[in-house]
Amino acid sequence: MTFRMTAPGLRLTTALAGVLALSAAPALAQETTTQTTTVQSHAPRTESEVSQTPAAPAPAPVARVQSPNGVLTLEASLTGEGRPLYRLMRQGTPVLTDSRLGFLLADAPKLERNFTIAAQATSSHDDTWEQPWGERQFVRNRYNELRVTFEETKAPGGRQFDVVFRLYDDGLGFRYEFTENQGEMRIADELTEFNLASDGEAWWIPAGEWNRYEYLYQKTPISSVGRAHTPITVKLDSSLHIAFHEAALVDYSGMWLRRTETTGFRAQLAPGANGAPAVVRTGPFTTPWRTLQIADNAPGLYMSDLILNLNEPNALGDVDWVEPFKYVGIWWGMHLGTWSWASGPIHGATTENVQRYIDFAAKHDIRGVLVEGWNVGWDGDWFGSGADMDFDQPYPDFDMEYLTNYAQERGVRLVGHHETGGNAAHYERQLEDAMAYYQANGVDAVKTGYVADAGQAQVLTSDGTVAWGWHDGQEMVRHHLRVVEVAARHEIAVNPHEPVKDTGLRRTYPNWVSREGARGLEYAAWGQPPNPPEHEANLVFTRMLSGPFDFTPGIFRMNTNPGSGVQTTLAKQLADYVVIYSPIQMLADLVEHYEANPEPFQFIKDVPTDWADTRVLSGEIGDYVVMARKDRDSDDWYLGAVSDEFGRVLPASLSFLDEGRRYTAQIYRDGPTADWQANPYDIVIEERTVTAGDTLDLQLAPGGGQAIRFVPQGRARR
Ligand code: NOJ
Ligand code: CA
Repeated sequence: MTFRMTAPGLRLTTALAGVLALSAAPALAQETTTQTTTVQSHAPRTESEVSQTPAAPAPAPVARVQSPNGVLTLEASLTGEGRPLYRLMRQGTPVLTDSRLGFLLADAPKLERNFTIAAQATSSHDDTWEQPWGERQFVRNRYNELRVTFEETKAPGGRQFDVVFRLYDDGLGFRYEFTENQGEMRIADELTEFNLASDGEAWWIPAGEWNRYEYLYQKTPISSVGRAHTPITVKLDSSLHIAFHEAALVDYSGMWLRRTETTGFRAQLAPGANGAPAVVRTGPFTTPWRTLQIADNAPGLYMSDLILNLNEPNALGDVDWVEPFKYVGIWWGMHLGTWSWASGPIHGATTENVQRYIDFAAKHDIRGVLVEGWNVGWDGDWFGSGADMDFDQPYPDFDMEYLTNYAQERGVRLVGHHETGGNAAHYERQLEDAMAYYQANGVDAVKTGYVADAGQAQVLTSDGTVAWGWHDGQEMVRHHLRVVEVAARHEIAVNPHEPVKDTGLRRTYPNWVSREGARGLEYAAWGQPPNPPEHEANLVFTRMLSGPFDFTPGIFRMNTNPGSGVQTTLAKQLADYVVIYSPIQMLADLVEHYEANPEPFQFIKDVPTDWADTRVLSGEIGDYVVMARKDRDSDDWYLGAVSDEFGRVLPASLSFLDEGRRYTAQIYRDGPTADWQANPYDIVIEERTVTAGDTLDLQLAPGGGQAIRFVPQGRARR
């Protein structure tokens, strides 16, 4: 528990000494709080000095905290005009130079200048918590915290806010806290800045454009970034890697980053619906955490748990009903154009088709069968409209009751689908009934969809009217949580497409299992610029830092569309199951394509979707990634390696395996002629005995990959 003590008159030096002394590793689950003090200067002067130099301006007060191992130092201070600011150093070198803090208010003077530091308090925290599912089972949460109270000194006066900084060894999270009841606050924008100390390269997608988050990552100098979504990842000239994002986006609007000058960024909040302020809040509240994950290299970024740690613990209690799983679906046929969502001669979601998919799932021990286009409402122009969608009315050629029973008798579950066409308001009116209907039919996971251009979602505003909103505006942020909460009451997991970005809320709501929010594999079917071979190596160090992605891998028939197609080898499709994390993973292709290729399909049957541990063995943003993950339910390890358009040989030390144990490595690798363009299907499947002392030279083709299962020898194979 954190508490605050006010000890006016205490010298700052003692408080700072307390913070800096916290660098020794505290015991588990320890939380300490040091004093809150009135503010004093960075370099305190003696009484006599003050009296001898009455005209000299007082030095700006500085509050400071270090990360537990001392690598990062954060300082909060003020400009001469009393503008709140912070700066960040790593091993003494500036990472962020003075970066301002504050708010632009819609109907009140901005919170920007004429502030003083009225109080500060530090505390320290260290515990380890367990994930119900995830990339790793146990997560250590160790940080030092600094709370700074900024108070206005001039008219209108009296206003104040706290900024809470949590300093981890691998990054920083900070948020604003309005602890007093200041009534209704209408925030036009945030004035939070992130001024990088040097240039470098950036990997980013644009924000505020029409296509939500579904853009290809571009690599530019930091000083050429425009307005970007987060996570945005940069590599400074010094080679330091930093990813900017946010954690715990609740009842607030999503943060975009707009580059201001050279290497400076400023927050820009997704606008409110129909021109309303970006955020309207009443009473005490906190903003989401603004985060920087910081590492020497790209793998270090992926290994950081900072985003999850900054989220609140599980609020749902026992979540045994949330199960990781794999699923096939009445889906790819629609994207290929051989089936339709709408009723008619090529309707995909017929009882007959679904039954065939259930048979396949039962035969191969795949838990789920997603069914899209099962409900009334798809026949008109549903795109960006969704007004006809009826979420408990099946089409006449889809027999829900029969299929529910048919699936259950075979140990298979239907996976639900609610496409809203971006009409969140319409969906909310049916939400309770829609979830109850699915629960009654044994459906315990629902994919939702919000197909509408960015800025054109139909949202419920706080005064109950319907307005055009952004997919990451405050109204949609609220909507998603409402859906997750109603679904939880019906013991249903949720996987939104065209969602709001992930900010780690799966920790608090473990039924929020996955989402889209990036360019999925579906682009291979649409005759649009395809996802290039470097896509996965970009995703891992950008989008994937935010959380699970329902990427829908596993396409075995690559030439789906002359203008597009899958730009990977077959081995890379397998590796994607290890590299692109989601606790629910689709087997995206038509089942007949798996039936026709049983050998490579075996890897997809074997690969788990829930992990005890994850290690990124090597990687460079946009070039390649090698990742190892340990199964949560056995002693098996899995390795996935993916390349961009270049072939490469990547050494992979197997030191993650148990010492002194022999493993059978079941290897699925690119064959000698494999190449994503010329011959994507050349795959070699072979077995080797390996130990922790071995290093494998992974040979990846252009656009290629490699997938390996490691099974300890001397035990029966599953
Ligand atoms: C877009 C989703 O990403 C896709 O998976 C889905 O099939 C369509 N919307 C229709 O809901
Ligand atoms: Ca999509």
